Amino acid sequence: MTSELPRTRVLIVGAGPSGLLLGQLLQRAGIDTLILERRSADHVLGRIRAGVLEQGTVDVLEHAGVATKLRTDGLVHQGVEISFRGRRHRIPLTALTGRGVTVYGQTEMTRDLMEARAAAGAPTVYEAEDVAIHDWDGAPRATFRQQGVERSIQADFIAGCDGFHGVCRRSIPAERLRTFERIYPFGWLGVLADVAPPWDELIYSNSERGFALASLRSPTRIRCYVQCGLEEKADDWSDARFWDEFRRRVGDDVAARVTPAPSIEKSIAPLRSFVTEPMRFGRLFLAGDAAHIVPPTGAKGLNLAVSDVFFLYEALRDFYRDRDERALDGYSARCLRRVWKAERFSWWMTRQLHRFPGDAFAQRMQETELEYLFESEAARRVLAENYVGLPFETGASAR
Ligand code: FAD
Ligand code: PHB
Repeated sequence: MTSELPRTRVLIVGAGPSGLLLGQLLQRAGIDTLILERRSADHVLGRIRAGVLEQGTVDVLEHAGVATKLRTDGLVHQGVEISFRGRRHRIPLTALTGRGVTVYGQTEMTRDLMEARAAAGAPTVYEAEDVAIHDWDGAPRATFRQQGVERSIQADFIAGCDGFHGVCRRSIPAERLRTFERIYPFGWLGVLADVAPPWDELIYSNSERGFALASLRSPTRIRCYVQCGLEEKADDWSDARFWDEFRRRVGDDVAARVTPAPSIEKSIAPLRSFVTEPMRFGRLFLAGDAAHIVPPTGAKGLNLAVSDVFFLYEALRDFYRDRDERALDGYSARCLRRVWKAERFSWWMTRQLHRFPGDAFAQRMQETELEYLFESEAARRVLAENYVGLPFETGASAR
């Protein structure tokens, strides 16, 4: 027996940042949604991921009415540093572009969105099993199991916000999409620790032993990464081993100030670039990691998810308010123009800051790129403009 739920306008698959933010923006525009999420809310909140928000992302969160904590707890940074051959070079983001970035964890942003959704009484089904989507070219429908009960629901549209491993992109026949992919021969081992950050701004470090990143979440919490082999396991890395390696890579003055604090989370993420084209299939729209992945070196993954969702929200709002379908028709192209620019920047940052063993020519090119960056304000401006985030297209060019 299948029980049929009341029809909804937009069925959202996935309660990560993309799905929750889309739900919040639509809710405020009076458009009802149901979110189906495979995991529990605690599991979603337990995933430690991104930490740097572009100003455009902060503006969208303000627009969505979920920026109260972000305004008080977010740390605005006006520069980032790059360490190379034992020397640190600052990229003064605000001086070069007029904008900075805000350090605020994806976990905190997700919690703010979950709380806003609960306060509005908007429905989310957590631990929804075997979600399947049907008939998205005509009359979209989803089926799933909730605590052993088979359920089904009809919707006007489906938003696939279910991440890289989700069901929505995988439901599309191969002949209707094209994918582009680059897999890098290494991953990032990340550690979260409760200790006051001994650095003021993020430090991206290119060292002979491999890449390292010194980041933070708050005035009492740091997040650090080292480049590692794809075959390695987080369990193979004791805290002592991690801090020893991290200190060898970040440069002597920072190393001297690092306290080897106990980790409260430790995990390895592989690095990948990936894009699906198009991002719309009839009445199914992909957004965020469901459609594209960037390596984290440019801090773009979460920010791209937010711009996709904002474009989809505007398009759905136009449709319900004015029966105007132009922005829905232009959604995929509008997203992909921004996606490819962030893919380029993330690939470039990854290329310049990691060790790629066995390619001596590429190694010289990397050294030359970095030397040029430290000598040329024009080169630093290019980095800064991309790091703080390219503008969202608006008006006629957006269609
Ligand atoms: P997700 O956050 O993946 O959310 C998708 C949701 O859909 C999940 O809750 C998932 O459980 C759910 N779902 C999946 N399948 C189904 C299904 N079949 N049915 C129902 N629900 C389903 N970006 C940065 O900028 N900096 C970083 O340091 C960084 N680190 C990262 C580390 C890791 C390990 C990963 C995976 C990503 C990282 N990112 C980082 C990228 C950033 O976190 C993502 O871009 C962001 O989470 C995208 O949000 P999303 O909502 O589109 O996808
Ligand atoms: C993080 O704090 O997790 C972080 C910051 C910047 C990046 C990637 C990750 O480029």
